[in-house]
Amino acid sequence: MYLHVITLNRIVSTWAESNESKEGLLMSKEPECKIENGLIIVPKGLKNVVPDVTYISGVDPTGQATIYRGYTIDDIGEHASFYEAVWLIHKGVLPCEDELKEVKKKIDTYRGQVPEKIFDALKLVPKAHPMYYGSYGVTLLGQYNAPDDWKFDDDFLFDHALKLIAQLPVIFAAGWNLAHHGTFVRPDPNLDHAKDVLRMIVNRTPSDLEARAFESSLVLYMDHGFNASTFTVRVIASTLSDMYSAIAGGIGALKGPLHGGANEKALVMLLDAKKKADELGKPLEEYIEEYILEKLRKKEKIMGFGHRVYKVHDPRTDVAAKFIKQLPEGEYWLKVLHKAEEVMKREKNLPANIDLYTAILYYQLKIPIPMFTPIFAMGRIVGWTAHYIEQVKNNKIIRPSEKYVGPTGLKYKPLEERCKK
Ligand SMILES: CC(C)(COP(=O)(O)OP(=O)(O)OC[C@H]1O[C@@H](n2cnc3c(N)ncnc32)[C@H](O)[C@@H]1OP(=O)(O)O)[C@@H](O)C(=O)NCCC(=O)NCCS
Repeated sequence: MYLHVITLNRIVSTWAESNESKEGLLMSKEPECKIENGLIIVPKGLKNVVPDVTYISGVDPTGQATIYRGYTIDDIGEHASFYEAVWLIHKGVLPCEDELKEVKKKIDTYRGQVPEKIFDALKLVPKAHPMYYGSYGVTLLGQYNAPDDWKFDDDFLFDHALKLIAQLPVIFAAGWNLAHHGTFVRPDPNLDHAKDVLRMIVNRTPSDLEARAFESSLVLYMDHGFNASTFTVRVIASTLSDMYSAIAGGIGALKGPLHGGANEKALVMLLDAKKKADELGKPLEEYIEEYILEKLRKKEKIMGFGHRVYKVHDPRTDVAAKFIKQLPEGEYWLKVLHKAEEVMKREKNLPANIDLYTAILYYQLKIPIPMFTPIFAMGRIVGWTAHYIEQVKNNKIIRPSEKYVGPTGLKYKPLEERCKK
């Protein structure tokens, strides 16, 4: 990958055409971009900056939906199995029968091959947010799985991607259960990936409906263009580091509340609203309006609303809603969510995002709240590994320049000459 100066220049010239240019400063409503001494100064947060192309996923040309390799994210989320979606994201097409068998066999087998010493290591760590078990466990996995002479050929990379996709959920589930119950459920290679992973998290065999609802959510989370954690993975990949190190970085980025942490916070908010509604003896589907208005008055964010890409509607919520409806108290929760959406549309013109819906879906599946973000990672690791491969296959180290604005010309002073009062 190369820093797309051409693309950036195109952005700059597009802005320049539509906005007045003053002394090299290209004005746009938002954001601002300028060229100084040959350096392209881009908006903070890289908003609207396109550092590279990708064939994996992105917003469709009409700006209405996200596309997975040509299909809309909601179409694949509703219809594709986990294995089909893995093949699609990685290989660019839906699998034929033999390919589907191959990917299923590998993922189910690898799930049972987490080195025993990693479970031993997880027994030693303190109780913490389970995202730590992921980054720690993936680093350990790299020490067992990755050869010293890391390679870049297709079969080698795809095989390691499948190992990571299969084994990261086992590590998360074992880490959580060891910390909270002192024991953990071992993988069963005879079960489908999603059903087995959910079983390992909740310590019971889920129904087929529960397993399919969970599987669909993993597919909906699989990829989303150059989001913060995927971009982190691509930056690490661009140094030609191994895939395990890159994924550990991705997990760290996803942990942040501005990225993956929103599904946990959305449920905490909904449960808080429910508790207050119960105390007041009001139905939640009515009280939620009052609750949201009060938060907005206090200038608080309503978790599970707003999105960098979806400004009108997040199509993934429709798929999640279909499963919520079929699970316990589904109609009730959908009424609450729809009322919340009505209020947020009217007050802030913001749509709900997938995290509001998965928050309720995972609650219905009786998943512990701190495991919500790890589950996001269990889906997103499919995109991360595909982006790792896309990056290293057409690589240029990602190393932006900075604009140093601190002091210059200072000279070292011995300790006795410093900090004199
Ligand atoms: C997702 C998110 C980071 C997108 O950010 P963004 O595209 O940069 O959008 P902005 O933050 O510029 O939002 C535009 C306006 O809507 C407001 N806004 C955005 N999300 C809001 C929310 N969830 N609740 C209340 N107000 C919100 C912003 O404060 C801003 O208001 P202003 O113009 O008065 O300053 C943001 O919507 C958010 O923090 N949402 C809550 C967390 C969440 O659900 N994240 C999961 C995303 S999948």
